[in-house]
Amino acid sequence: MLSWDEFEQEDGAAPIIKARTREPEAIEKEVVDQVNAQATAATSDNDQLANFQTKLAVADEQQNASALQKAIDDLEELDVRAGIEELEGSAARVKVDDKRMINCRADLNQLVPFKYDWAWQKYLDGCANHWMPQEINMTADIALWKSPNGLTDDERLIVQRSLGFFSTADSLVANNLVLAVYRLITNPECRQYILRQAFEEAIHTHAYQYCIESLSMDEGAIFNMYHEVPSVAKKASWGLKYTQELSDPKFDTGTVEDDQALLKNLIAFYCCLEGIFFYCGFTQILSMGRRNKMTGTSEQFQYILRDESMHLNFGIDMINQIKLENPQLWTDEMKEQATQMILQATQLEIEYARDTMPRGVLGMNAAMMEEYLQFIANRRLVQIGLPEQFQNVQNPFPWMSEIMDLRKEKNFFETRVIEYQTGGALTWD
Ligand SMILES: [Fe+2]
Ligand SMILES: [Fe+2]
Repeated sequence: MLSWDEFEQEDGAAPIIKARTREPEAIEKEVVDQVNAQATAATSDNDQLANFQTKLAVADEQQNASALQKAIDDLEELDVRAGIEELEGSAARVKVDDKRMINCRADLNQLVPFKYDWAWQKYLDGCANHWMPQEINMTADIALWKSPNGLTDDERLIVQRSLGFFSTADSLVANNLVLAVYRLITNPECRQYILRQAFEEAIHTHAYQYCIESLSMDEGAIFNMYHEVPSVAKKASWGLKYTQELSDPKFDTGTVEDDQALLKNLIAFYCCLEGIFFYCGFTQILSMGRRNKMTGTSEQFQYILRDESMHLNFGIDMINQIKLENPQLWTDEMKEQATQMILQATQLEIEYARDTMPRGVLGMNAAMMEEYLQFIANRRLVQIGLPEQFQNVQNPFPWMSEIMDLRKEKNFFETRVIEYQTGGALTWD
């Protein structure tokens, strides 16, 4: 049994409790006194703390008051017209006739009234077609890709090259949009669609990354392919050279030469990159899906292609509108340059087809693809008002047109694997 004596202090410090040899009443009184003394000390500490906190609060209040006063003073000095003078007539409400595709001086922050209904409609259509890569089931692809005899070497090459090219190509397009095109297109409804398009390009890059990750591919090799494989590198370099001039922050439109540089960029990116460079890879992957192989990857590409066909149509509308408003830009020399650009892009895509299809594969071969690309090139030329360059070419893959017209409600919701929130209901409670 414990003895109170064991609690005596040995090192000279004040004992907490004395030995039991004392009277219990004395011990009790002493304990009560100690507790009261501690309580008094604590009260005194609390008072000091409260005092300190009050002083702090007063100091804070003074500081806040002076910070608020500074904010109010600064606001009073704000010149609401600063920067606006640069824009002619910007103090007035925007009228439809003030709006122009390029070199517009009207206020670009006023979305309405619309002048280009086609741009706003495409923005609405793009939003209605929203999708995410994770909604698509990749299970069958993973099993097929891992199975040693699931795909032939030629089929594997097509999957690798497609993911290699597209995984960076969509970033090139997105960069061109936000670093060059957005600033120079001086119309708010077109800018609204460009913002939507930029987000769709991010979703496309996400989709390729999702396929690459699902299939456990060598990510470094796939994403760096545009530096390593000549047929991929040439296409990327060709597109990049049209971004370089426009992405210079000092570049601006306003002269015939500079306006033509913007027009060339739009033709390079919309008609050539999105309108030609994507078509061999898309046709190959979608042909694979039609043969019940890599159906998840193929479905991702289907939704991307549907978005891309809208990007292309928007770009063509934009190019034609700029030509209409600025006929001085569409010189014979410019027409010749535009034709050359489309022919060069077609040639690079034919080289890519030969590189990715050394033999017949998936019911197609490089010669068929060449005819298809010439058919596509003729369409691109006609779409921007130029004559066809290839005679007697037909579309060997008519099923591609059907896929491009794919409507979301046709089969999208049958295949989606997760739910996501597109317009969650908010409550005010
Ligand atoms: Fe894209
Ligand atoms: Fe695109």
